Amino acid sequence: MKRKMNIFNLIAPAYGLFYDYQKKHYMANIDILQEGIDLSKYKNIIDVGCGTGALCSVLKQKGLLVTGVDLSQRMLKIGAKKPENTEVKFFKGNVLDRLPFEGKSFDLSVASFVAHGLKRNERKMMYAEMSRITKHVVIIYDYTEKRSVLTSIVEWTEGGDYFNFIKKTKTEMKKSFRDVHVINAGVRGAWYICTPFDKA
Ligand SMILES: C[S@@+](CC[C@H](N)C(=O)[O-])C[C@H]1O[C@@H](n2cnc3c(N)ncnc32)[C@H](O)[C@@H]1O
Repeated sequence: MKRKMNIFNLIAPAYGLFYDYQKKHYMANIDILQEGIDLSKYKNIIDVGCGTGALCSVLKQKGLLVTGVDLSQRMLKIGAKKPENTEVKFFKGNVLDRLPFEGKSFDLSVASFVAHGLKRNERKMMYAEMSRITKHVVIIYDYTEKRSVLTSIVEWTEGGDYFNFIKKTKTEMKKSFRDVHVINAGVRGAWYICTPFDKA
């Protein structure tokens, strides 16, 4: 399949400048996630579209064994250089292809601010691939329908599917998962805690 150039390879150095800010953000928001799911019950997690690994570092700090996968080698390189990420396993991979893991390899999977950048059929493929490699719960962290002017401009520039995504987030997810529990986190974000169809 022909792939468009990954814009994240271009912007990785700039994106990396926000690593500490992102880490603080995730540190605060992970507590909100834990209102819906007790992370201490699980052993390992894969962060799909992990970028520079800020969320990976926070999940590691919460005691999980963390694998981070991303399409962009340059994003991964920044994450792998952080001293707190030495125990995180980073590797390059495309969630729209079959990732090199057996079914149910991970207790949990998470994708943070990846879904809105994909087209609708690609989101469906990502949800399916995450469901395949996950034993228990798929977690999507992304925007809600509450827009800001700045987010709209940034997302329009990025050229993803943000405007469609925010209109249909839960409807779409309900077609891919047996249950979707939403926990708002901040003004414009939410944790979507999804139970795949074949899980209890
Ligand atoms: C907006 S960034 C979010 C990065 C990180 N999750 C965070 O919260 O900072 C989206 C990331 O998803 C990655 N990505 C996009 N499509 C992907 C795909 N098909 N497979 C794996 N990673 C992908 C991009 O390379 C980029 O690093």
